[in-house]
Amino acid sequence: MAVVVPFEPQGSNSLDRLVELVAADMDRVNATILTRTGSEVTMIPEVANHLISSGGKRLRPVLTLAMARLVDHGGDGHIKLAAAVEFMHTATLLHDDVVDESDMRRGKLAARMVWGNEASVLVGDFLLGQAFKMMVEVGSLKALEILSAAAAVIAEGEVMQLAAANNTATTEDEYLAVIRAKTAELFAAACEVGPVIAKRPKAEQAACRSFGMNLGIAFQLVDDALDYGGVAAKLGKNVGDDFRDGKITLPVVLAFRRGTDAERDFWRRVIEKSEASDADLEHAIGLMVKQRAIEDTIQRARHYGAIARDALGLFPDSPMKRALEEAVEFTISRTH
Ligand code: IPE
Ligand code: IPE
Ligand code: MG
Ligand code: MG
Repeated sequence: MAVVVPFEPQGSNSLDRLVELVAADMDRVNATILTRTGSEVTMIPEVANHLISSGGKRLRPVLTLAMARLVDHGGDGHIKLAAAVEFMHTATLLHDDVVDESDMRRGKLAARMVWGNEASVLVGDFLLGQAFKMMVEVGSLKALEILSAAAAVIAEGEVMQLAAANNTATTEDEYLAVIRAKTAELFAAACEVGPVIAKRPKAEQAACRSFGMNLGIAFQLVDDALDYGGVAAKLGKNVGDDFRDGKITLPVVLAFRRGTDAERDFWRRVIEKSEASDADLEHAIGLMVKQRAIEDTIQRARHYGAIARDALGLFPDSPMKRALEEAVEFTISRTH
């Protein structure tokens, strides 16, 4: 059922170099994360560690650390901010799997399948609370403002998405507004707070934010392509979740718009009524291939990736800048 999307990676496309450059800081972030999941209420660390110990790419905290290093930040506030960013992400995953009724996450059963929806939501709330405590400890009102604004926008994005569910009339612009809010805003904030606590000039703060925002849009576009064209074993989550949920993502928007009348009838039946079978999913993927919907979703991601890359133009060449450029390539050509 997997669709092979032709990628044309430009140069190296792995996160390895970036991860290597921030490895020492990331050890401290991981130690912080472990400490801050602690609670006497034993179900909290159980649920949180189930998800946290299954890994994940840690892309957002890596970006926070990388941007702090890119601008030569001298202090250590970026460690707690990076941990806070990953906690915000982890909290949204716990909540998201409840909303999306997803069964798999990071190659394991989603927390909600083990402890239930209620525990998943509540532990997500705990992690959000812990994230805010860490931000306050760092003592930068500006960083607190950026991350708290992001938390509100992410929730808005998830609600916007809920309102657009099952609606095949959703436009590409409306879809973009959703992914900017639910995903790109956190990438933007993660990238902006480093230069903010380093008190770098406004232009540098804005450049880092723009890098994150555009990378985040590309990241979600690819995630949405992988929900149809990816391989579950690599993704660590099931393919077809968005389809079964009646979620309107760009591959659906494009396939619907480009489809024949008969094809549109099919999309209306499966998306508007949320009654999709496995055979419907196969058929949907077939239509997407025919209409080049997955391919063009990746093309759009490549476009936002190029904007992210250009945002770094302000900074002189350095190993960190090159590693960030490779992270853009990774985001577009990734299979997990
Ligand atoms: C998943 O994010 C949620 C999206 C915004 C698509 P990641 O793909 O970064 O998840 P992990 O942290 O690596 O598991
Ligand atoms: C990401 O969207 C949601 C958040 C930003 C919380 P998805 O719903 O597509 O993420 P996955 O595919 O479940 O990881
Ligand atoms: Mg989801
Ligand atoms: Mg997804």
